[in-house]
Amino acid sequence: MDATTAPVCLAALAVILCAVLAWRSAKKQSRVAALVNKLPGPPAYPIIGTVLDIIMIPRENLMEEVLARQKRYLPIFRTWLGSHPGINICLPEHLEVIMSSSKHLEKGSIYKLLHPWLGTGLLTSSGLKWHSHRKLLTPAFHFAILHNFVEVFCEKSRILVDKLRARAGGGGFDVYPYITRCTLDIICETTMGTKVYAQDVGRSKYVEAVYGVAEELTYRFLRPWLHFDFIYMKTQRGRKFRNYLKVLHNFTRKIIEERKSYIATNAAAFKENSMSDSKIGTKKRIAFLDLLLQSSMSDNHLTDEEIREEVDTFMFEGHDTTASAISWCLFLLGLHPDVQALAYEEQEKIFQGSDRPATMQNLQDMKYLERVIKETLRLYPSVHFIARLLQSDVKLGEHLIPAGCQINVMIYQAHRNPQQFPDPERFDPDNFLPERVQTRHPYAYIPFSAGPRNCIGQRFALLEEKVVLSSLLRNFKVRSLEARSNKMLSGELILRPAHGIQVSLTLRSPS
Ligand code: HEM
Repeated sequence: MDATTAPVCLAALAVILCAVLAWRSAKKQSRVAALVNKLPGPPAYPIIGTVLDIIMIPRENLMEEVLARQKRYLPIFRTWLGSHPGINICLPEHLEVIMSSSKHLEKGSIYKLLHPWLGTGLLTSSGLKWHSHRKLLTPAFHFAILHNFVEVFCEKSRILVDKLRARAGGGGFDVYPYITRCTLDIICETTMGTKVYAQDVGRSKYVEAVYGVAEELTYRFLRPWLHFDFIYMKTQRGRKFRNYLKVLHNFTRKIIEERKSYIATNAAAFKENSMSDSKIGTKKRIAFLDLLLQSSMSDNHLTDEEIREEVDTFMFEGHDTTASAISWCLFLLGLHPDVQALAYEEQEKIFQGSDRPATMQNLQDMKYLERVIKETLRLYPSVHFIARLLQSDVKLGEHLIPAGCQINVMIYQAHRNPQQFPDPERFDPDNFLPERVQTRHPYAYIPFSAGPRNCIGQRFALLEEKVVLSSLLRNFKVRSLEARSNKMLSGELILRPAHGIQVSLTLRSPS
């Protein structure tokens, strides 16, 4: 080979290599497509996949339409998002195969759209990073630490009750923003050790930016051509998205800075309060953020960016989910005076008319309220959909599902399986009587996901919900002003009521 033929040979070699790789990829793709297309599903078109009918739907009706489509193809069907296949599942035996496995822990590719906001925090990360952060953060949700948070839950609920007193007896209003500001105050003070006074400030730019980002992410998710950053970020919507991100990141960076400077000026107290496994239970409240900051100072060397990612993740997951869950609970209690009366009776038994803060023991005694909360999360799971990336071929019933598919878990539909919940649309807290729970498949009810990648904050969430609802029940009679059949849903990341929760409140006894 002389100097003139060498480049030609190399170019030819490169072309052959590319051709072989393209052929192998096409062969793999065609195997995947052949297996995936054995499943039923909506009509698929080149480039766009199965989203054609969905992107035509106005935002207002999107969730209803998505749910109607799911119902058409249940219990298992395929979708294509561009060239990415999705397998949509809801049967408990299928869920168990995926969720109990320690193999399929990686999140679906759609979570990449969350990266500009949450980076690779606990919700969106995978592999070693996920593993080490989960291990690091699990102690921050230990029972003994949650125990210390109850005081904050009570204090913030007290403020909520005071704010709502002004609305009692005065006709209908949307209670959702009140609840959201309360859960935001709670997450900031418990996990971040920082007060943001959201309930006193009123309108929250942070909350508005969360809603804005959720809307933009849903819009982008359904349009595969916008998944490319170089296209999306140049669009008007992409610019809007970036502006929301600025608000969110400024808010969380400020929280981190405030905590850092607090620690710097209280170094001795912080050292005294720092946590070691053996001492859990003997310490005062330990903020999750302190754990991150401590870890960044010690061997683990978390970077500032990694801390920011986790703070953004927990701020979002920790307040929006519980705001939705508490609000839906009030909605259902307000529609079912019989259930509300039983829940109130239980409160009366525990508190005997007193408005004192609840203790951990009181919370454990709220068995009926717990059933109400669980039943609400069945009908209105705050997180109605999650996705995993299949790492190897699996059999789901008689279907062979190839590696590389995104498994979409339809939590909303899983909770409406008539085999597991007879009369599934009926609101019946007794669905969670122990004898009924025993008769169901363990994966029939998964509001907090399940298996190794389940919700790290589920005990926190249940305790918080109990405290807030206990305070509200003891102070007010709630009436919902809309029927369930008229309630429009919004499924933008979190399952929210599209137009808030309209209630009227009556004071139980004047203070
Ligand atoms: C009613 C309230 C809540 C519900 C229904 C809920 C539900 C869920 C679900 C379904 C997942 C799995 C998400 C996925 O796979 O994509 C999850 C994960 C997670 N949740 Fe929650 N959550 C709630 C409250 C909370 C709270 C209060 C916190 C924090 C204080 C929290 C923090 C997280 C985090 C960090 C993850 C990711 C865990 C991991 O991948 O290791 N959640 N949650």
